Amino acid sequence: MLLEDLNRKPLARLLIVEDEALVALQLQRTLVNAGYQVLDSVASGEDAIDKAIQLHPDLVLMDILLAGKMDGVQAAAQIRAHLDIPIVYLSAHAEDERVRQSIFTEPYGYLAKPVSIQELRATLEMALYKHQLYLQLSASEARWRTLVDNASEAIIVTDDQLNILSWNKVAEQLYGWKTEEVLGQPLKPLIGAIYAQETSAQAAQFPLEHGFWHGEVQQQRKNGEQITVVSSVTPIKDDQGKILGLMAINRDITEWNKSEQACRQLNYQSVSEAIRTKRAVRVFQDVPIPDDLVKAILNAGRRAQSSKNSQPWHFVVIRERTVLKALAACGQWAGHLEGAALGVALLSEDPANRFQILFDLGQSAAYMQLAAWEQGIASCMATIYNSDQARRVLGFPEDLHIRFAISFGYPLVENPTPLPVKKGGRRPFEEVVHWEHW
Ligand SMILES: Cc1cc2nc3c(=O)[nH]c(=O)nc-3n(C[C@H](O)[C@H](O)[C@H](O)COP(=O)(O)O)c2cc1C
Repeated sequence: MLLEDLNRKPLARLLIVEDEALVALQLQRTLVNAGYQVLDSVASGEDAIDKAIQLHPDLVLMDILLAGKMDGVQAAAQIRAHLDIPIVYLSAHAEDERVRQSIFTEPYGYLAKPVSIQELRATLEMALYKHQLYLQLSASEARWRTLVDNASEAIIVTDDQLNILSWNKVAEQLYGWKTEEVLGQPLKPLIGAIYAQETSAQAAQFPLEHGFWHGEVQQQRKNGEQITVVSSVTPIKDDQGKILGLMAINRDITEWNKSEQACRQLNYQSVSEAIRTKRAVRVFQDVPIPDDLVKAILNAGRRAQSSKNSQPWHFVVIRERTVLKALAACGQWAGHLEGAALGVALLSEDPANRFQILFDLGQSAAYMQLAAWEQGIASCMATIYNSDQARRVLGFPEDLHIRFAISFGYPLVENPTPLPVKKGGRRPFEEVVHWEHW
């Protein structure tokens, strides 16, 4: 700040605390001559406290040694306890034990008596300027604190040794530790950390090397309960780029994870239920299948695994009754295609070329039927014995072949699930499954 700027400021308002009347008077004159406003001059610590509270000066010039019960340091401590006012001490005895004690009152300067005008002015201006900076810093700290305390995530700031420097309200709620319990404590033993993809040493190192780490981590509450959080960790650097510590923003996803797992479980059950309950249905209602469900069925087939991911299939989608009827005539047992709401013909190169092709087609057929069954749509395979006739019906090229088609439709029987498994049910588990060897 330039001297001109200082001069343009309103006069600083001072309180003098000095028990020697003559010194006090001289000081007052000097200060007024130097351009300060002296609000009052008092001789005792008690009066100093009263006046400071009453007048709220910009600065208190405090003699360390005061007559009476209270010395300047005690008075300053009381003033600092009530008000955020900078104190500059005056002392005739620089070595005095009281000077040492005065440190705890966070003084903004010391002046040894007798004081020159230059010294006085320099010390006071420095004290006022430093206090202004301190107030700006406090205001910015308060804004930051409001932001941090109102955040919806736990925000934790550590030093470069991972000792906790700041711990917001959400962190208190999430981990169960109060701020005063954790400040200065090492972070890791407190909340633990098991990382999904790396060791904790790697994860701690990552933001230091790459400037950022984001991932899922298992931690613990004060009561030992395990929680899952998504954590974003950023290093805090000074102007020179030196790392001062880390800031972690953690969001609790324990409940979300549980419900996602439950959801997966539900889906899994619905697939296994579909497998358990799926029956071949050959008689359908004369009701069309909505386009989005037709697409969902075809997508399930398209997404099936295949040998070397060759995906050897083409699907011809048939909804026209005449075409369905014509296709139904291409297999001895394919009659159910005629009444289907949807027929899907499975085309591929000649399956005689590669035995895997039929297996792959089987996979896609199974996926389509299960996806349909999940939506209440029944189905049945149809073996197309007369491939050439089917080629004429559907018009596909010579290099493609058809062995199977599938009928889909809403079942005529309201609930086909209780239909008995055809002809003697499924073979028993023990008869089908051979453990380790035949
Ligand atoms: C490769 C394959 C070909 C099939 N071909 C026909 C067929 O041409 N006509 C037919 O009515 N059912 C056909 N089916 C259906 C089976 O007969 C049916 O899946 C099996 O009998 C089980 O019946 P369920 O689910 O009622 O127990 C075929 C099934 C598969 C897997």
